[in-house]
Formats: sequence, C-alpha cells, structure tokens
Amino acid sequence: MRGGQSKWSLGRQIWLTHASRNQRIHVSTTIHDCKQIDLKKIADPRGNLTFIEGGRDIPFEIKRVYYLYDVPGGAERGGHAHKDLQQLVVAMSGSFDVILDDGYEKKRVHLNRSYFGLYIPQMIWRELDNFSSGSVCMVLASNYYEESDYYRDHVDFLLALKASHERPVS
Ligand code: TYD
Repeated sequence: MRGGQSKWSLGRQIWLTHASRNQRIHVSTTIHDCKQIDLKKIADPRGNLTFIEGGRDIPFEIKRVYYLYDVPGGAERGGHAHKDLQQLVVAMSGSFDVILDDGYEKKRVHLNRSYFGLYIPQMIWRELDNFSSGSVCMVLASNYYEESDYYRDHVDFLLALKASHERPVS
C-alpha cells in the first residue's frame, strides 16, 4: 500500500493527485481493474457458507442488491456502462458470461461459482450472455438505482471516454 491508498483504490478514482508535484493525473478504469474476488468460503458437511461484507471483502459499501433469474435461453442482459456505480457480480447458481469493454479492450469472463465475485468499477461497458438454464446472477451495487448514472448507448459511452481523456490536466 502506498500514499495512503487502500488496496482497492485502483479502480475507484478517475483522477488522482500526484502528491510530489501537486499535479492531477488522469487514470481511467480499464478492464484490468475488473477483478475476480475470491469470496470467503466456510466449508461444512452440512452445506457451504459464503459471506460478503461491504468495504471489507469488496471495495465498496453495499447500498443495493438485485438479481437476474428465469433468464430464457439465448437472452442477453446488460448492454450499458455506469458513470459512478461499482458492482460485484456473482453467479449464485448456474453460469453465464460477462463481456467487459473499456473502450479499447474487451474480455469475456465466465462465472460459474457462488464463491467468486467479479468486481466491475465505473465506466466499464458490460454485457451478459450465455446464461445456463436456472442460473441466478446476483449483483451487489455501491449505490441506489439511478437511471442518470447509465450510459445505455455505446457511442455515448465512447464519446464520454474520449472527452475525459481530452480534459486538460492542471
Ligand atoms: P437494467 O439495469 O437495464 O438491467 P440489465 O442490465 O440487467 O439488463 O434494468 C432493467 C430495468 O429494471 C430498467 O427499466 C431499470 C429497472 N431497474 C430498477 O428499477 N432498479 C434496479 O436496481 C435495476 C438494476 C433495474
């Protein structure tokens, strides 16, 4: 840990201050900031237990939980990015894929264990597909639902990224 930043700070801030020069450095989130988090698992012959504590096991306090279920074969979900929201996606049952896109690079992540979480910081375009029958996708979110936090148009998302890179650094 350096400069007082927590181990989670990488994907959370768009702007960092370079302490020695008092300069602002632009740091965009990328797909490499999307991390698989190994959640704690209490193995027990009566059935396993996993828990998630906001701010401890994941890099944000949890304000909202939602889940996708009864997803028909071939359906796709997501198809948007968030301006500020951070999320943790967990395959509580079955499996599905998450396609991550930071405007430059893409990667596909297969989730199929309820003790793995995929952390997605702000400004990452995501799509979900390849849902297995009976799968349940649980999402922990850092804030309440707010439609104004969404980019639902990929071109708007790319333009916002471009604008943020062109912002003067002072
Ligand atoms: P959306 O986020 O587009 O779903 P997904 O990314 O899983 O495909 O949301 C679908 C609809 O549900 C949309 O009308 C907004 C609404 N919604 C809420 O009202 N509250 C929520 O917490 C979420 C996630 C969605």
